[in-house]
Amino acid sequence: MSVLDSMEAYLASDDYQNALQAPDVEPLRQYYYVGVLRKLRAQKEEQLGHPLYACTKTFGCQMKARDSEKIEGILKSAGYHLTEKEEEADVIIYNTCTVRENANTRVYGRLGYLNSLKKKKPHLMIILCGCMMQEAHVVEKIQKSYRFVDLIFGTYNVYQLAELMVRRMQSKKMVVEIWNKELGIVEELPTERKYSFKSGVNIMFGCNNFCSYCIVPYVRGRERSRDPKEIVEEVKRLADDGVVEIMLLGQNVNSYGKGLAEPVSFAQLLRMVSEVEGIKRIRFMTSHPKDLSQELIDAMAELPKVCKHLHLPVQSGSSRILKQMNRHYTKEQYLDLVKRLREAIPDISLTTDIIVGFPGETEEDFEETIDVVKQVEYDSCYTFIYSKRTGTPAAKMENQVPEDVIKDRFSRLLKVVGESSEKRTGLHLGQTVSVLVEEPNEQDDAMVTGRMDNNLLVHFRGGKRLIGQIVDVQLIECRGFYYIGELVLEN
Ligand code: 5AD
Ligand code: SF4
Repeated sequence: MSVLDSMEAYLASDDYQNALQAPDVEPLRQYYYVGVLRKLRAQKEEQLGHPLYACTKTFGCQMKARDSEKIEGILKSAGYHLTEKEEEADVIIYNTCTVRENANTRVYGRLGYLNSLKKKKPHLMIILCGCMMQEAHVVEKIQKSYRFVDLIFGTYNVYQLAELMVRRMQSKKMVVEIWNKELGIVEELPTERKYSFKSGVNIMFGCNNFCSYCIVPYVRGRERSRDPKEIVEEVKRLADDGVVEIMLLGQNVNSYGKGLAEPVSFAQLLRMVSEVEGIKRIRFMTSHPKDLSQELIDAMAELPKVCKHLHLPVQSGSSRILKQMNRHYTKEQYLDLVKRLREAIPDISLTTDIIVGFPGETEEDFEETIDVVKQVEYDSCYTFIYSKRTGTPAAKMENQVPEDVIKDRFSRLLKVVGESSEKRTGLHLGQTVSVLVEEPNEQDDAMVTGRMDNNLLVHFRGGKRLIGQIVDVQLIECRGFYYIGELVLEN
């Protein structure tokens, strides 16, 4: 029985109809609150004379996007219509990120706008969640200076959304629920996938690495791996539901399985997931170079469903800075890893994350980073200016690099990165490749946009009915970071 069917069966049962209070066991407790939220929503709709809309805005990584799908699943099953327009919404949820300071600044900036919306529409419910809410100083500031916010909850409380919304509706005061560790994973809740044909799958939560600049271990807690059987079950359910591509998600997927009763390696998990019928492509994110095993390289080379793309954050090319960053590899070890990857999988596409201006970074250190980019020839790089995060060891380091020096290095890096990706992208010109068609083209109605195995985008002439299919496309023109193609064959 699907999750939705189980929930509806419970809500139709005498147990629910006769219940005087919410059950203690999950997921029944949350099903109960979805039922209560449905009633409260319907009353409000009657009072206002129109249906209620909910809008979720996601800031940050793929894992955050997956949490938002869970949030939208709960809202939809409580009967809210989903919208992307904040002005149209009766409930607005910001699922926040806090990896860099500017992510926080953006949220504070937008809160002023939400306040103006609420003045025009007093029943508007404003909800904040995500990593930023795991920081005590953020919550204090919101409680003090942004009193119009209705509900704040943390990264461990996503599954309680319906319960917390009901609590807010009944209490008429700001509700704050933030756990600092997991008190049980509740799996069986509805999710609303953004794409019908592809989906993220969490395989682990949290991070144990404590890179010295990074706040994630403090806000997402210790590393926990999900049971492989549950992951495979979820993938099978997704395949039954028409999903052809999955992205296995974790902060450091290469250390998957270490804490399990029966340890399983990430390479073994890839093999298990590969066997699920109906799944045609498997991606994963993110890999830490220190834990990338030869076993995984071999599995990637061998398993045809695993996409030939690896996101392998280097962060810096200087072994001295890498040590300060607590990354546990040197420039040479990283380059050796790349060499072994390219030997095993010659056409692999590599992407990375780079931080510019880590405390104490000298011109020589920076040139080592440029050298790595030139040697590796990444397909694309996500480049970040170092952001000081209170509470991390790097925030206390002396020698913070002056802003003008960082800006200069950053623009020099962008130039080298651009040259390397342009060179890599062009390599496929003329080839016929398989493409998963993802959406209608934004500029031209007669075209669609799809993704190659190596993650590059291709635009080509074709109808919307192709969306969700894997088709063969010949690459006829390279435009820097993407291709224009021609449909050859529908599979
Ligand atoms: N400053 C700048 N970039 C950071 N990242 C993580 N923490 C910081 C920080 N304090 C980057 C890293 C990581 C990516 C998700 O965000 O490159 O891989
Ligand atoms: Fe942050 Fe390092 Fe963990 Fe990635 S591996 S989430 S950069 S601490």
